Amino acid sequence: MKSAKIAGIGYYVPDWVVTNQDLEKVMDTTDDWIVERTGIHERRYGHKHEETTSSMGAKAARIAIERAGIEPKDVDFIIFATLSPDYYFPGCGVLLQRELGITSSEAGALDIRNQCSGFLYALSIADQFVKTGMYRNVLVVGAEMHSMGLDFTTRGRNVTVIFGDGAGAVVVQPADKEGQGILTTHLHSDGTYAEKLAFINPGAHGGYHFQKMGLEEDFGYSDAQYGEMFITQHMVDSGQIFPIMEGQFVFKMAVQKFPEVIMEALQKVGLQPSDINMLIPHQANLRISQMVQRLLRLRDDQVWNNIQRYGNTTAASVPIALAEAVEAGAVKEGDLVCLAAFGSGFTWGSALIRW
Ligand code: UT7
Repeated sequence: MKSAKIAGIGYYVPDWVVTNQDLEKVMDTTDDWIVERTGIHERRYGHKHEETTSSMGAKAARIAIERAGIEPKDVDFIIFATLSPDYYFPGCGVLLQRELGITSSEAGALDIRNQCSGFLYALSIADQFVKTGMYRNVLVVGAEMHSMGLDFTTRGRNVTVIFGDGAGAVVVQPADKEGQGILTTHLHSDGTYAEKLAFINPGAHGGYHFQKMGLEEDFGYSDAQYGEMFITQHMVDSGQIFPIMEGQFVFKMAVQKFPEVIMEALQKVGLQPSDINMLIPHQANLRISQMVQRLLRLRDDQVWNNIQRYGNTTAASVPIALAEAVEAGAVKEGDLVCLAAFGSGFTWGSALIRW
């Protein structure tokens, strides 16, 4: 079977820079707290009414498509990973297709709901489609417009200060040379901890999971025979319509699962951490990346971090970081690149690529 490679890569971040000091003005937080706990100094927010998850995704995609030496109309399949879609449905894949002006191709579009590891899941799917010969040009996009759905009061500070907006994209094509391209991908999940990092409302859950877990939570449901469940006034008034996170729990799982899934990939192809030329970890928290680096005994030049400038851009973080590393010349032909991510679900994954 032919292997698949990343033939083109691009990223886009909005030009609106929001510093920690800017956030200090709207909530009870400090630059010191944010930098010490997360390493983040600033993040980007998309311009309201002018940018969306799919429009930013399209900007990144155009660059990736051009660098792959193809035209937008040549894309045979679209995979779009995000947790902050423009619409609840339809997904961002079809909106991106329209934004790129390629609806007449009627290429299939698939949306991925795997949060921080969404890009890894999407890349793995693209890899399978290309390896089997089903498609030649698969466009994979990870994009987020978090800023539209965060709680900008002190109540939401543990989540809000972390996230930023942006988009990254790659075009996956058949590799030309033996041993080049995506060597292996590994995907995992454990739904036990679904609510540890989640965006619960609005939703069609009707309190079911909370009841089953014995968790007391009043969502303000009415006694109406039909409907009135998806979103309630109480959810809006009490701030239940924002993401929730048990930060320390997520942190502990992340520092365990990152090295595990990286080692799994390396073992599959008979390599060692020292063989990695560039590790691109999902940019969740600089402290997590540093712990993973220490555990794998990697030097600073073997790990790419940009969370300081962009915050956590969830499904976009791995392709943005990879694109930056490639543009900076830090990833060269023949290099072994390792991608890894962990996040909500919990879901996590890794990929090894011979560039
Ligand atoms: O990408 C998806 C995966 N996500 C992650 O991997 C995130 C993993 N977790 C983390 O990165 C960290 O847990 C956080 C950065 C989110 C939080 O850091 P922490 O050291 O775990 O803080 P904490 O949540 O335990 O909170 C410690 C204190 C609390 O105050 P008290 O109860 O000790 O008085 C919080 O209320 O810090 C307070 N706090 C803040 N203070 C100032 C929480 N957020 C803030 C804030 N500014 N933004």
